[in-house]
Amino acid sequence: MNLVEWIDSSRDQHLAELYEFLRIPSISAKSEHKPDIELGARWVADHLRAAGFKTVEIVPTNLHPLVYAESLEAPGQPTILFYGHYDVQPPEPLDLWTSPAFEPTVRNGNLFGRGTADDKGQVHIHLKAFAALQKVNGKLPINVKVLIEGEEEVGSVSLWDYVQKNTAKLKADALVVSDTSMLGKGVPSITYGLRGLNYYQMELTGPERDLHSGVYGGAVPNPLTILTELFAKLHDKNFRVTIPGFYDQVAKLSTSERKALNSLPWKKKDFEKAVGAPSYCGEKGFTIVERLWTRPTLELNGIWGGYQGEGAKTVIPSKAFAKFSTRLVPNQNPDKIAQLVEKHIRKLLPKTVHCKFEILSKGKPWAAPYHNPIFQKAQAALEKGFGKKAVFIREGGSIPFVTQMYDTFKVPCVLIGFGLPDENAHAPASSPKCVPTRIFSGVFHTPHQKTPFSRLFLRFSLAFPVSLGYSPSRPEYSRKI
Ligand code: BES
Ligand code: MN
Ligand code: MN
Repeated sequence: MNLVEWIDSSRDQHLAELYEFLRIPSISAKSEHKPDIELGARWVADHLRAAGFKTVEIVPTNLHPLVYAESLEAPGQPTILFYGHYDVQPPEPLDLWTSPAFEPTVRNGNLFGRGTADDKGQVHIHLKAFAALQKVNGKLPINVKVLIEGEEEVGSVSLWDYVQKNTAKLKADALVVSDTSMLGKGVPSITYGLRGLNYYQMELTGPERDLHSGVYGGAVPNPLTILTELFAKLHDKNFRVTIPGFYDQVAKLSTSERKALNSLPWKKKDFEKAVGAPSYCGEKGFTIVERLWTRPTLELNGIWGGYQGEGAKTVIPSKAFAKFSTRLVPNQNPDKIAQLVEKHIRKLLPKTVHCKFEILSKGKPWAAPYHNPIFQKAQAALEKGFGKKAVFIREGGSIPFVTQMYDTFKVPCVLIGFGLPDENAHAPASSPKCVPTRIFSGVFHTPHQKTPFSRLFLRFSLAFPVSLGYSPSRPEYSRKI
């Protein structure tokens, strides 16, 4: 049996396993899901073992465990570190899901379920690629290290410490990550830049308790009004962030890079279809692609306070809350930006409220050259899988581990994503229940996704380690795919 025959013959079992993985509500943001996170880590560890890895560890951290595995049985061959995450984003608002978030369901050939596209589907693809190679060929053609973490969706806070303490262990010739998107359907893409992310939370307190808005209104500060006034001041009419110094360290894009990014086969129509807003806006002087991939932003992610139940309640809330974040680009420094943000906000706030300001996570931006020969290997493998040459893109999302690895080892990072940016477009337009991601958090956490367990991706995933470990004495490795 060759690799492809093995994949095809195991398809049903593999799909069943993917469903099992997707049913685990491993939501890293919520402490009540701690047992599910543990379950997710164990599931990954068990399946790494089943894929033939003899060294598999579940490593506890300050927050959620990570899973590490290695197979170093190919002397003289390169060592590749594969990274992914088993944690997922919270699925709320639940009533907007057509089928339950943690009950994977196929509709019109698409698989719906939280984590399908980010990042359990991709992790599963890699697991099965390793399993195929081990089962059919008896061993992997290269040395492989695997790190699957459980904190990516909350900023990989514990990971930095792990990387610092395990530099020898994590050393590799390249890092391979599939937790990114493709530029479009059928356009294989290699990502060479990500934005960084700082995440903040704020609590404003005015009166020491909720007050009757008739009895007290007009003579006391309302923290909700003050919070909304504050956020209205953080952008100007050209959609630029008004925080002094915010743009000071932003590296200027070279003319050639600007040209290359703007000539990619990126389709505005697809973007608009995926978003579905009545109209569009963004920082003046930049194209949409530039805004998404190369410009820093400040976004309000959640705001609450006061009465939100049914009917009316005449109250002046004691407190108002906001969660917000800044996306960062080279060469902005997350510590510096965090300081500037807090300083400016404190300056803008009136003395009538008390402000508790928290930084939940900080993460650096990343953009790296793609000259290393491994990028040609990746391109060749993608071409084998997709029959098309891969394009080089940047992305607006963030993956803290990539920056951590690059900063620590200057290792080439090959980001070959299988996600599609326009999944929202696949939702049946007739039912409003099918568009939860528009409300939730953008296309990156789309709950409905074309089944990622497509043979194409798996074949690519196979082709990649195989092409790296290709040797003339084992030509059957590359021919059979
Ligand atoms: N997989 C995404 C990041 C991503 C998506 C990168 C698409 C490029 C293209 C990842 O799981 C994610 O959502 N990251 C968070 C990072 C954070 C919580 C530190 C993000 O970007 O919001
Ligand atoms: Mn992800
Ligand atoms: Mn994500």
